[in-house]
Amino acid sequence: MIISDELKKRIRSKDVLGKVCTAKEAASFIKPGMTIGVSGFAVTGYTKEVAKELAARAEAGEKLNLTVYSGASTGDEFDGVLARAGAISCRMPYQTNKDLREAINEGKVKYLDLPISNMAKWVRSRYLNHIDVAIIEATAIDEHGNIIPSLAVGADDTYVACADRIIVEVNTRIPACVEGMHDIYTPEPAPFTKPINITKAGDRIGTPYIPCSPSKIVAVVESNTLDRGIVAGVVDDEFRKMSKNLIDFLKNEVKEGRLCNPLPPLQAGIGAVSDAVIQGLKESDFTHLNVYSEVVQGSFLTLADAGKIDSISGAGIAVSRAEMEDFYSKLEKYKDKIVIRPMEISNSPEVIRRLGVISINTAIEADLYGNVDSSYIGGTRLMNGIGGSGDYCQNAGVSIFITKSTAKDGKISSIVPMVSHIDHTIKNVQILITEQGVADLRGLDVIERADLIIDKCAHPKFKNALKKYFSKAIVLSEHLVCPYSEEAAMMFHNGEIDE
Ligand code: COA
Repeated sequence: MIISDELKKRIRSKDVLGKVCTAKEAASFIKPGMTIGVSGFAVTGYTKEVAKELAARAEAGEKLNLTVYSGASTGDEFDGVLARAGAISCRMPYQTNKDLREAINEGKVKYLDLPISNMAKWVRSRYLNHIDVAIIEATAIDEHGNIIPSLAVGADDTYVACADRIIVEVNTRIPACVEGMHDIYTPEPAPFTKPINITKAGDRIGTPYIPCSPSKIVAVVESNTLDRGIVAGVVDDEFRKMSKNLIDFLKNEVKEGRLCNPLPPLQAGIGAVSDAVIQGLKESDFTHLNVYSEVVQGSFLTLADAGKIDSISGAGIAVSRAEMEDFYSKLEKYKDKIVIRPMEISNSPEVIRRLGVISINTAIEADLYGNVDSSYIGGTRLMNGIGGSGDYCQNAGVSIFITKSTAKDGKISSIVPMVSHIDHTIKNVQILITEQGVADLRGLDVIERADLIIDKCAHPKFKNALKKYFSKAIVLSEHLVCPYSEEAAMMFHNGEIDE
C-alpha cells in the first residue's frame, strides 16, 4: 500500500501508520446488523470513503441493516449513499438528507431525533446500542494514537471511547492547522459528574485531541474529499424583516435593562433565517459578540472578519462549498477565536442556562398558545428533526423562535390554531418572531398570548380568520381557561371560518 507523504506527516504514531489500508479493507470490519458511531455534524466532518464501500456491498445484495448514530447531519456522501443503497435500518439523532428523509417517511428506516445533548450520554449509559465500530474523520493522529478531529466533534469522543473498533479517515485536504481548535471534555457519569467549568463562551476545559488507545484503531484510510458544505439559504425581504424585528427586540431588551450589552452569547440554527439575523447583527451597533452555539455557520465567521466577535464555540463549523477555501485560508486567524467541542458540551443545558444564551431557532409552524412544531409537516411527514433546538430553548436566557408568517407561497398560515406536532411547548417558547412583528409571550396567559400572536405575528390575510377562530373556540369550549375547538380549527384550515 503506497502511503502519501502528507498522510505520513499526519499520522505521527508508527503503530497506527502500519494500519493504513484501502476503504474496502476498512469497511470489511463492518458486519451486517452492527451499530456504528460516526463523526459528522451540520454536514461537516463526516466520513466519506468507507460509506462508498458499504453502499457498494448493499447494492450487491448484502443486507447490512446498520444502526447509525452520528453527531448530527452528515453529507450526501454518507447518509445519501447509504440510504439510497438501503444499508441503514435505524438512524439517530439528526439528519437533513433528502433521500434518507424519504426512506424515513416511507417507514424503511427507523428514526429518533433525540435532543442532541442526550445522545452521547445515552450511549455511555447503555440506553442505546453498544457501538461496534466508530468511523471518525480526522485531520491527524498524534504520537500516542490520539485523534485530532476535522471541523466537527459531535459525539466522536463518546463513540471512540465506547466502540470495540475504530476506523479513522484522515482527510488530508483539510488544513493541518485545524489542530489546536478542539476542546474535548467528556463529563463523568452521574451522580459523580463535576460542574462543567465554562464561564465564558470561549473557555477551554479539555484536551485538543480525542483520547484514543492506538490498539483500538483497526484501520486508517486516507481521504481527500471535501465536505459537501451546507447549502446557504437565500436571504429574501421577509428574512430581512425578521432580522430587523429581532435586532429591534434585542436593542429594546438592552434599553429596558433586561439584557446586558455586550449581549450574552448567541445561538442560532442553520439556514437562511440565521444568515439573515447574523447579517443584521453585522450592520447593528452590537459589538464584542460571543457565540455559544451547536452549529457555527459561515455568517458568524463574516462577523468575526468584521471585528464584531470575541469568541465562537460550537460542535461543528458548517460553511458552504463556496466559502470553504476562504475559510481554510483564514484558519490561523480564527484559531484563537474558535473552539470546537463535543455536542454534549456545546448543548449542555447547565452551561446554556448559566451563560444566559440568547437562542434563535426555527419553526415550521406555531400556534396561538405559543407551541412550536419544528420537525413534522402536517404532523406526519418528517422534515429534519429538532436537533439541538430543544436543549437551547428549554434553558436559554431568552428563547426565540422565528418563522415566516406564511408557507407554500403564502397559501397557508404558519400561525395556526393548534400545531400539528409539538416540539417546543408553551412553557419554553418565550418570543415568537415573524416578518410581521414580535410577540413577547413572557408572563402572558393563554388568552393574552393568542391575542398578541395574532396581532404581532400572523399575516394580515389570515388575521381575521384567526380572530374568528379564537372567538368561536372560546364559545365552543364554554369559556374554559384554555380555549380550543377542533371543529373551529378544521374550519380555519379549510378556509371556511369567514362564512
Ligand atoms: N406548513 C407546511 N409546510 C411548511 C411549513 C408550514 N407551515 N413551513 C415550511 N414548510 C415546508 C416548506 O414549504 C418546505 O417544503 P419543500 O421542501 O417541499 O419546499 C420545507 O418545509 C422547508 O421550509 P423552508 O421554508 O424552505 O425553510 P428551511 O429550509 O429553512 O427549514 C425548518 C425550516 C424549520 C424545517 C428547519 O429550519 C429545521 O429543520 N429546523 C429544526 C431544527 C433546528 O432548529 N435545529 C437547531 C439548530 S441546527
